[in-house]
Amino acid sequence: MNSGSPKAENIVNHSSLVSNELRQHKLGQSGCVLWFTGYSGSGKSTLATALEKNLIDDHHFAYVLDGDNVRHGLNRDLGFSAEDRTENIRRISEVANLFADAGIITLTAFISPYRADRQLARQLIGDTRFKEVYLTTPIEVCEARDPKGLYKKARAGDIPDFTGISAPYEPPLNPDITIDTSTNDLTSCVAILREQLRRDNIITA
Ligand code: ADX
Repeated sequence: MNSGSPKAENIVNHSSLVSNELRQHKLGQSGCVLWFTGYSGSGKSTLATALEKNLIDDHHFAYVLDGDNVRHGLNRDLGFSAEDRTENIRRISEVANLFADAGIITLTAFISPYRADRQLARQLIGDTRFKEVYLTTPIEVCEARDPKGLYKKARAGDIPDFTGISAPYEPPLNPDITIDTSTNDLTSCVAILREQLRRDNIITA
């Protein structure tokens, strides 16, 4: 499933006529991946979609890949075992990598609880255009928010392997950006990320 070389033989990569520089110049931005990670309810989707809107309003090209959404389509065959989560993140890393190649500011909102899976994503996408955004919102806050009522169900034993309750979350050791959504409001969280994109020369304004 996660082995490096393709099953098919006799396949050869085809080059684009559009260089990265030309693409960047035409789009006025460079492709990247902001990889949000944190507990369910930590604010990943809320923050990613708010940043997406903020960027699009300013004529930038951004797109959110969200765990709950992707699990209705591309990854509808996957559950929440450790193996399935790894495959979920592997596929999303490949998709995010293509989006970044296309010049898009790609915002991924997945719990992505395993360090090794996030490390593989970073390796695939490339260190310079991969930014790990760790939402440090404490689990007590996530559980109190419980926007989908899932913590309540998990506590009652109705959801097996629930991250933070009955399945592990391995916090990043060296995240590029750290944000606690319980102590910063949405507007300031978006501003922090916008400023980081500007400092990293992904956008100019
Ligand atoms: S990941 O661990 O594989 O990265 P992903 O981000 O795709 O997870 O999906 C997490 C979302 O699925 C949660 O926000 C929650 O709404 C829902 N969910 C359902 N069951 C579980 C579970 N057992 N553990 C965590 N999230 C779950």
